[in-house]
Amino acid sequence: MPPLRVAVADSPFPTLDPAREVLSKIGADLRLASEPTPEAILRVATDADALLVTYAKITAEMIQALTRCRIISRFGIGVDNVDLAAATSAGIVVTRVPDYCIDEVSDHTLALLLALARKIPFANAQVHAGGWEMSAVVPIHRLRGRVLGLAGFGRIPQLVAPKAKSFGLRVIAHDPYVPAEIFARAGVEAVEFAQVLELSDFVSVHTPLLPETRGLFGAEAFRQMKPTAYLINTARGPIVDELALARALDAGHLAGAALDVMAQEPPVSSPLVGRANVILTPHTSFYSEESLVDLQVKAAEEVTRVLTGHAPRNPVNPEVLQQRTA
Ligand SMILES: NC(=O)c1ccc[n+]([C@@H]2O[C@H](COP(=O)([O-])OP(=O)(O)OC[C@H]3O[C@@H](n4cnc5c(N)ncnc54)[C@H](O)[C@@H]3O)[C@@H](O)[C@H]2O)c1
Repeated sequence: MPPLRVAVADSPFPTLDPAREVLSKIGADLRLASEPTPEAILRVATDADALLVTYAKITAEMIQALTRCRIISRFGIGVDNVDLAAATSAGIVVTRVPDYCIDEVSDHTLALLLALARKIPFANAQVHAGGWEMSAVVPIHRLRGRVLGLAGFGRIPQLVAPKAKSFGLRVIAHDPYVPAEIFARAGVEAVEFAQVLELSDFVSVHTPLLPETRGLFGAEAFRQMKPTAYLINTARGPIVDELALARALDAGHLAGAALDVMAQEPPVSSPLVGRANVILTPHTSFYSEESLVDLQVKAAEEVTRVLTGHAPRNPVNPEVLQQRTA
């Protein structure tokens, strides 16, 4: 039997050693595309038994060109860069790693919230430029008693909530798919989306990117927010309409924003770049040295499970597995 081949479409990681070590146990050979273009990815993926992917777009055309692939395993939580329908019709299971950076993203959300509330980046820039006045940061409000509204109440915001509560914030959330007991156990009020917008001093986005959440935070949403409120997005860039956000900031519909994710990464002509009331981080919420090892090991373990005839832990299109056993 020829050795198993695992292609890697793209890698932002300093090393692929943790994944390589897992895959070496089934004798699989790892091949990284020379660049994240469809042509370069297909050069290593066409005859591969599995494909690992981080941010590269895996289109229907690319999926049709895969001759042996049994699994597309995403190094990450969201799978919006993979054409799921095409993978399903090609009989390829798509997997994700839903639980590797929950600590990091929830910490990053709180870091952004605190940086907005205490105006840390702005104050830091003032002092480095020779300033030392309190007047530059006026007004700052006490956090205790303020409202944090979460859009989505999945794994990450469920860890944001207790951290925010330790600062005295009242936490409300909108998630139509999470049962009432989860909200009750977390001591978080379940509310409608409109209430998240109207009641919150900080609105934090934690939904997946889906057709119904693309542009969810647009002009209409910003008009409903408090003019003193801040928006935080650590989920996916296109959930926020950046042009509408820039206009809302200009019109005073909200006070500021902190974004770890953007519609185009890196941003090329975003109207949000260069504003004193906007904090931007380069999609690093998920990152810690420890989370990267967890991520690579878990994504590679999904590959070894599927290539050795076992069911993966986190399939996004499990119907493919039923078709295989039928
Ligand atoms: N910036 C980063 O580095 C980074 C890292 C990890 C995850 N993420 C993103 O963070 C987001 C949240 O991750 P998670 O682990 O909490 O996800 P999760 O899968 O645990 O939860 C997602 C939740 O969103 C809810 N939801 C779906 N549609 C909704 C809607 N229209 N309104 C409200 N809720 C809705 C679902 O019911 C689910 O409870 C995802 O978009 C993920 O891609 C970003």
